[in-house]
Amino acid sequence: MKILAVSGSPRIEKRSSTLKLVKAVAENTGCEYDLVSLAGKKFTGCIGCGACFGDNICKVKDDLAPLIDKIVEADAYILGGCNFYSTLNANMHAFLERWYQFRHRENDVLWGKPAVTVAVAGLHSAPVAEVLKQFCLYNFIQVTDSIEGLGAANCYYCGYGETCKVGGVYGAHGEGFKITDENIPCVSKDAACMEKARQAGNNLGQILKNGHDRAEATQEVRDALMDMSNKRAKEAH
Ligand SMILES: Cc1cc2nc3c(=O)[nH]c(=O)nc-3n(C[C@H](O)[C@H](O)[C@H](O)COP(=O)(O)O)c2cc1C
Repeated sequence: MKILAVSGSPRIEKRSSTLKLVKAVAENTGCEYDLVSLAGKKFTGCIGCGACFGDNICKVKDDLAPLIDKIVEADAYILGGCNFYSTLNANMHAFLERWYQFRHRENDVLWGKPAVTVAVAGLHSAPVAEVLKQFCLYNFIQVTDSIEGLGAANCYYCGYGETCKVGGVYGAHGEGFKITDENIPCVSKDAACMEKARQAGNNLGQILKNGHDRAEATQEVRDALMDMSNKRAKEAH
C-alpha cells in the first residue's frame, strides 16, 4: 500500500504548517508514502489543450510531469493546501487542475481511493477545506478525514509586523505586541491539531490495511455528488 502525500504550500519547510501537518498524517499511516512539497517547483495549471483526451496523459512538460506515475500508482492521497486570499492557494490549485488528465473516457485511476485533506490558514481554514473536499468529490475520491490548522502569516517574519497597521499581527494583537519565537503561530504548537492529524493518518492506514473496497467507496462518493447537485439545483430555483 502506497500513499502520495502532497503539501501545496510554496513556503520553505521550516515555516510551512501545511507541510508539517501533511507529514504528521503520512507518518502515522504505518504505510509506505511519498512526501512531495510543491515549494520551488515550476509548473502551470491545466491549459485545457485536450491532448490528454485520448490517453489520459498530460502532455505539458514541467516539474509536475514526474508526479503523474506517483498519482496513478498511489492507493491513497494526503492533499494539503493553504489559504491565499480566502481560497486554496494557486500552487495547490494548479497541481489539482492537472488531475483533469484522469477524467476522460471513464478512466478510473482516482475512483474510490481514500484521501485525507489538510487545510491551513492564517485565520480561516474552512474555505480551503471546502475546495479540497469539492475536488475530491468531483473525482470520486473518498475523503476519510479533513484536518484544519492555523499557521503564521508572513507578517510574523517580514520585519515590520509589530508596527504595520494593515498587517495580520497588528490585526490580531494590536499595539505593543512583541513577536517572539514562542508566539509565532505554527501547527506544531497546537497539540489538539497535531493529534487530529495523527489520528487521521492512523485511520487512513487502517482503511487501506483492512482491504478498502474502491467500488463501494466510488458509489458512496457518486451518491454524495448527486445529493450536492440536487441540493444546489433546488437552491437555484
Ligand atoms: C498571498 C497570501 C495571501 C493570504 N491570504 C490569507 C487569507 O485570505 N486568509 C487567511 O486566513 N490567511 C491568509 N494567508 C496566510 C496563510 O494562509 C498562512 O500564512 C499559512 O500558514 C500558509 O501556509 P504554510 O504555513 O503552509 O505556508 C495568506 C498568505 C499569503 C502569502
